[in-house]
Amino acid sequence: MANRREFLKASLITTAAVAVSGRTLASSKVNFPTGLIYTKEKPGRWSAKAKLHAPMVKVDGGKITITTPHPMTQAHYIVKHTLVSLDGKTLGETTFKSTDKLARSVFQLPAEHGEYYATSFCNLHDFWVTVFTV
Ligand SMILES: [Fe+2]
Repeated sequence: MANRREFLKASLITTAAVAVSGRTLASSKVNFPTGLIYTKEKPGRWSAKAKLHAPMVKVDGGKITITTPHPMTQAHYIVKHTLVSLDGKTLGETTFKSTDKLARSVFQLPAEHGEYYATSFCNLHDFWVTVFTV
């Protein structure tokens, strides 16, 4: 359990660091560290898993909805979502339980337009990020 927490903490710190460097890149083509952060475009060793792990983002009606279309079972589930700004501020987070039916979280649309990160952490398949623009 402690290892999982440490990994999640390290992943979030890395995301914040990448977010800060992402500002200078000003692009959705951020080169996330291979083997640490996975995306739909760069799923690395989890290439067969991208469809169920890359967070999907919907912006509508002043809300941002993040969904990870992943099964939720006691042994295998989505642990957490976060919404992070380019400068590394966590604007929202939702922690899930294995008994939740769906990994879906809803956040208030930020006032500032720009790129944001939606993150999703699977207890077996690591840390995934989707970059999107509002
Ligand atoms: Fe998974």
